[in-house]
Amino acid sequence: MTRSRNIQVRPERPDDHPAVFELNLRTFQRPTEAQLVERLRPVVKPLVSLVAMADQQLVGHILFTPAQIDGSHQRLAMGIGPMAVHPERQRQGIGSRLLQVGIDACRIAAIELLFVVGEPAFYQRFGFRLAEPLGLRFHHDTSPHPLLVTAIRPAMLGGLRGVVQYPPMAALRQAPTAS
Ligand SMILES: CC(C)(COP(=O)(O)OP(=O)(O)OC[C@H]1O[C@@H](n2cnc3c(N)ncnc32)[C@H](O)[C@@H]1OP(=O)(O)O)[C@@H](O)C(=O)NCCC(=O)NCCS
Repeated sequence: MTRSRNIQVRPERPDDHPAVFELNLRTFQRPTEAQLVERLRPVVKPLVSLVAMADQQLVGHILFTPAQIDGSHQRLAMGIGPMAVHPERQRQGIGSRLLQVGIDACRIAAIELLFVVGEPAFYQRFGFRLAEPLGLRFHHDTSPHPLLVTAIRPAMLGGLRGVVQYPPMAALRQAPTAS
């Protein structure tokens, strides 16, 4: 497998919107994720939406949206998802690039915590760990994957407890699955 070279990750621009829609539609083989991104864009702030470009083709997209912890300690937090890499370009490092650039952008924006509902084997290399042993529960627990969390600023994981609200992922989990 050839690792991707010449991949540029940059913030999404308005003229990317149709290609982001097509990418999510193609990757997930259902309209749920594509429509969700369209719905969230105008109403959610802050929003980190990044695209990966290869030879002027849009081959990847990742979205970060605000997450809340309903508990005693409030933190600036965001949740990840959906994330999509074109089916013909998966497992070439593009998802990892999107994730790393997104994490860096959130850190610069003073975000303290990141959540994702996902495969631990993929996310642990970016510092994510199981959220439940830390006292954090996902408000919508029908996913086969656990809630994961990482602190992107030092010493931010102490004293956490509560229910994590992460609206986009709840919407996705309620939708029928593609396969
Ligand atoms: C999940 C996804 C975004 C990952 O992007 P990618 O570009 O394929 O990922 P990378 O190439 O950076 O993968 C990095 C590592 O994670 C592993 N990996 C990738 N996808 C994985 C998965 N679904 N489960 C477990 N490990 C995975 C790869 O083996 C790779 O490890 P390696 O480099 O040691 O071989 C992409 O596969 C995808 O779009 N999948 C379909 C949509 C989806 O499930 N999105 C996530 C939920 S919203």
